Amino acid sequence: MNATALTFESVSRVFSSASGSRVAVDNLDLTLSRGEILGLLGPNGAGKTTTVKMAATLLEPSSGSITVAGVDAARYPRKARENTGLVLGGDRGFYMRATARENLRFFAELQGVSGRRRNARVERVLKTVGLADRQNDKVESFSRGMRQRLHIARALVNEPTVVLLDEPSIGLDPEAARDLRELAESLREFGCGILLTTHYMAEAEQLADRLLIFDAGRVVAEGTVKEIATVAGMFAVTSYRADIYDAESHAAVSARTDVLTATAHTAAGRAFVDVTWSSPNASEAAVAEVGHVLVGAETIGTRTATLEEAYLALLSTGAGRSGQDSDD
Ligand SMILES: Nc1ncnc2c1ncn2[C@@H]1O[C@H](COP(=O)(O)OP(=O)(O)O)[C@@H](O)[C@H]1O
Ligand SMILES: [Mg+2]
Repeated sequence: MNATALTFESVSRVFSSASGSRVAVDNLDLTLSRGEILGLLGPNGAGKTTTVKMAATLLEPSSGSITVAGVDAARYPRKARENTGLVLGGDRGFYMRATARENLRFFAELQGVSGRRRNARVERVLKTVGLADRQNDKVESFSRGMRQRLHIARALVNEPTVVLLDEPSIGLDPEAARDLRELAESLREFGCGILLTTHYMAEAEQLADRLLIFDAGRVVAEGTVKEIATVAGMFAVTSYRADIYDAESHAAVSARTDVLTATAHTAAGRAFVDVTWSSPNASEAAVAEVGHVLVGAETIGTRTATLEEAYLALLSTGAGRSGQDSDD
């Protein structure tokens, strides 16, 4: 079995209109393996949905090539589609008065799953998404989170190699959004490669093994959170609790060459200060020195940067975009 689920090679997509043309995806390369969760992260308009639609063969690339489960998507779109499961989500798309099981049997039939295999398939995907015990309930009685699970089950009935999740947690309550993590894990066990788009950094950090950060159709950084933080020049973050954090303290801490950023917030009358270091190992001496500069400070601890911190540092330094600036 091929371990590669999805590849993009120099893929671009241009949309043309009367007012000119817009490059939605610019020269994208990506590889997704089976059992891997790849997150596409970026602001609105960055090109995430366009990427997903091309992977689903709903949209043709303007140039470049895409393979799904080793199949050339432009040459054999039907075969490629048989290997993908697209989850767009939302409340619609099901027969509300039919049960979960009846809905899935119907969609399995539409996808060409033969009668003999259909029952076993439907049973398996219901288990995967954790709806086995509700399979005989009508969809109208389902919560949003359960409907989302059913969407995923629907995308799985043809046993796809690639599962495409476009902004899966939009409109979900926090609890259901948390469930999504478990669900993504079970898809991994199913042997699928998962391409997930989101504009929530915390979600991307939680769910994905690896990330592609998009901006205006281009990848500005990629890798694990740690790798992205390294590209951003952000290595570790030390948190302090201090009596006050004023302009003077800020200037003193920021002036250090080994400090990348210093940010603070106040809670319960005390200042909480996060200092990010610009070198791989914040030395004990440096941590202590900053502690002395701050008034009445205690060191809470040192941790690695979160994706959000790395992302903000990346945008502020432009580290990920060197040589890629265009003049449009
Ligand atoms: N069908 C279309 N026609 C024209 N422009 C489009 C079309 N679809 C997307 N775009 C443009 O392509 C860019 C990327 O959009 P999209 O892939 O939807 O971004 P994202 O999902 O990251 O928010 C945007 O500037 C958007 O306006
Ligand atoms: Mg989108």
